[in-house]
Amino acid sequence: MAEKQLQADPCTIVIFGASGDLAWRKIIPALHSLCCEGLAHPDSSILGAARTDLPRAAFHDRLFEGVREYSRHKPNEEEMCARWTEFAAHIDYMRGDYGDSELYLSLRKFLAEPGVRARTKGNVLFYLATPPELFPVIVGHLGASGLNRSAGGWRRVIVEKPFGRDLESARSLNDGLYAVFAENQIYRIDHYLGKETVQNILTFRFANAIFEPLWNRNFVDHMQIMVAEDAGVENRGGYYDRAGVVRDMLQNHLMQLLTLMAMEPPSANNARALRDEKVKVLQAIRPPRIRECVWGQYRGYREEHGVAPDSKTPTYAALKLFIDNWRWQGVPFYLRTGKRLSDRSSEIILQFKAVPHLLFPENTDLTPNHISICIAPDEGVHLGFEIKVPGTSMKTAPADMDFHYGNRFGRHVIPDAYERLLMDAIQGDASLFARRDEIEGSWIVLDRLLSAMEKPGAPMPLPYEPGSWGPVEADRFIEREGLAWHQSCSRE
Ligand code: BG6
Repeated sequence: MAEKQLQADPCTIVIFGASGDLAWRKIIPALHSLCCEGLAHPDSSILGAARTDLPRAAFHDRLFEGVREYSRHKPNEEEMCARWTEFAAHIDYMRGDYGDSELYLSLRKFLAEPGVRARTKGNVLFYLATPPELFPVIVGHLGASGLNRSAGGWRRVIVEKPFGRDLESARSLNDGLYAVFAENQIYRIDHYLGKETVQNILTFRFANAIFEPLWNRNFVDHMQIMVAEDAGVENRGGYYDRAGVVRDMLQNHLMQLLTLMAMEPPSANNARALRDEKVKVLQAIRPPRIRECVWGQYRGYREEHGVAPDSKTPTYAALKLFIDNWRWQGVPFYLRTGKRLSDRSSEIILQFKAVPHLLFPENTDLTPNHISICIAPDEGVHLGFEIKVPGTSMKTAPADMDFHYGNRFGRHVIPDAYERLLMDAIQGDASLFARRDEIEGSWIVLDRLLSAMEKPGAPMPLPYEPGSWGPVEADRFIEREGLAWHQSCSRE
């Protein structure tokens, strides 16, 4: 990978869906942070496009609220306002219907203005932050209006998740994108890849010599990947009820974590090499059978705003996967994720095999070694091992060696995932974005499961209490494997 520039190219960032939640909570606060850190080019500008009729000032007010609430940079009020005024001077708003070519004509006019062109050198990053059913419509219009190409400068497009509803729709969305953009212009975003702790999986595995020799079926008993949320669907009931946990979390975030944990060392740290290795993992995953999965729905979900009163949409899933290759044959990977669980906690546990011979007979229950990668909220890594308890016997006890970003680098140093990903897209580095074959490979793994869950007459998701760890059947499922769900990252 080429050495990164310190400051990104100047460009116009056109956000479709600019009046929505994602722009407000994530995209604008991230761009604001990049500006505060001097990483975004001062000549860059942002153009929000959406259906809502909003005067520019009202749009600014709403965005300012989001920045105050969610930006990493929260200096004192006066400084905040001064920075904001500077930042907001480069933000415009355009109302329009996504299906109407008028919007794209106006966009063309805006981008062709000599002032804009001179400042941004014709570079444009389109960000599709609308409901997913609008992606093909917008992409089609970008192509028809010629906005996908430019005589000078680059054109790129960020596509939010969920990327399709199943394999077929993901393929058709990819075909639609390919009709308008080349693969190297397309940035399919999965914000988990922008998380510092997720990128640290690569560093942990490939910048250290001591772990990789153990990272295989000879030493690893099993792996657990958990993303638990205490929040429910909040104000996204309408979207969530159509998506469900498989499309919202499993097909993208958890599968990305799995591929990073399981892939072979890439030959280089660049987009092609990294994604080639991830795709090989996806191709080796045995699609799970329905009996290898437990799915649930939290009590009270059907009363959420936007959710059908008889909804069968799962809000929790736990499943077992196998990767049929030399490194991982026979090692189970357990994935679980859900909403309204007991805690907000994302963690990956690599549990090693038990010792082959018990030398200390007074200890019949030695805890197997494990490595825990704590993704959130307590970012870090733990190594669990046994130690001798002081005294005259050979009694052992589990001990924990841990590293936390907060202790080592100070609080608030971890950038938001969107900061990293926006910066990468502006710099043209697609390493942390999903390629076409990655997206489709992940759908191939889960498609059969989804159809079984959604076919007429399929069993209802199992109910679970909000604030619990999911349906009790998920505990029985792991107990039947002779295991238990683990959690070893604790809050600082
Ligand atoms: C999003 C999902 O992609 O990820 C949300 O749509 C989920 O439903 C969120 O809450 C979780 O992200 P994070 O970064 O808070 O773990």
